[in-house]
Amino acid sequence: MMERAEIFAWLTENEPARLDELFHRADTARRDHVGDAVHLRGLVEFSNHCVRNCAYCGLRASNRGVDRYRLTADQILACADQAVALGYGTLVLQSGEDLAVSADAMADVVRRIKQETPLAVTLSLGERSPGEYAAWKEAGADRYLLRFETSSPRLFQSLHPRRRGQPFGRVELLRILRRLGYEVGSGVMIGVPGQSWDDLAEDLLLMRELDLDMIGVGPYLAHPDTPLGRRPERWCLAEDQQVPADERTTYKVIALARLLCPRANIPSTTALATINPVNGRELGLKRGANVIMPNVTPLEFRPAYSIYPNKACIGDGAETCHHCVHWRIAALGRTVGAGRGDSPNPRRHDLITFSNVKEPNHGRAADR
Ligand code: 5AD
Ligand code: SF4
Ligand code: FES
Repeated sequence: MMERAEIFAWLTENEPARLDELFHRADTARRDHVGDAVHLRGLVEFSNHCVRNCAYCGLRASNRGVDRYRLTADQILACADQAVALGYGTLVLQSGEDLAVSADAMADVVRRIKQETPLAVTLSLGERSPGEYAAWKEAGADRYLLRFETSSPRLFQSLHPRRRGQPFGRVELLRILRRLGYEVGSGVMIGVPGQSWDDLAEDLLLMRELDLDMIGVGPYLAHPDTPLGRRPERWCLAEDQQVPADERTTYKVIALARLLCPRANIPSTTALATINPVNGRELGLKRGANVIMPNVTPLEFRPAYSIYPNKACIGDGAETCHHCVHWRIAALGRTVGAGRGDSPNPRRHDLITFSNVKEPNHGRAADR
């Protein structure tokens, strides 16, 4: 089993021949454990409202420059139909922490998608209550994505002002999601100011400990209308300690995530395609990743989902990305996955149900 010191050594390795060895090992593990199929997930960014103030994110509540939107249930269903028409097996419903999306309204949307289409449904709505997660699971949701962003409590606190009335930490929520029967995904940004090589090694160990079904990682991209984008020097560490938000580091983390969690579904992310529009996505797929998430959000709303600037594919319709992605996958000698592309991780047995989680236990100790 890979130890902390070895992870650290790979993260800080810069010898090209050694890195080729790491990437080759990750590619082999990917082929052995999840095969050559690249699974496509249709991504719907259904609301950019957010109550949080993450220091790095353009959608943070105090950014007044964002045109806020929220798709209706019918608009979301139209995206689902589009995803089916393009042959995708999964729909990912993503938003900011939009508390105006009620648990019931969300459950209705999930139920309609499950009744009217064969899609697997992945939710990514941030931190909500265990009772809400349970209601969405009962409505038919299959998977949940919630990045823990960093395993360092110090860094987490410096980037995320606390939300009142939220008794659970993210790692705790991930464990609850898992016990509710979701396939669970998480991950971190790479090179966020204040992130050290030690932190990143610890992040990778936490991914293994959580036995994640899905791992999403991408480079940090500075957004000018955020505290972190405006004054990075307030957060950045000394040069030898600060992780750079660059391509090479991103590939190292994808490769290590594959070696540590060999059966996980790992996307080659939009953030990676943003820092290398030429072949970033391809290189991610060659160095451990096996999933791509083409955007199926209606074009008119894309620019307003500005987590970071210059997002890849911002002006490309679902059809365009569809053809582009198919072409790129074929050029790699890989195939497009058929069906839902569920995680090959074994299902768990320590499940809890709706009635167990209706009353969150406010007395629980802080996370970790
Ligand atoms: N750069 C890169 N990724 C970001 N995210 C949020 N802001 C940024 C940024 N400026 C990521 C976070 C979040 C996900 C939805 O997007 O990791 O979990
Ligand atoms: Fe909101 Fe998510 Fe952005 Fe944080 S990262 S401000 S929770 S959309
Ligand atoms: Fe969107 Fe290539 S994937 S244009």
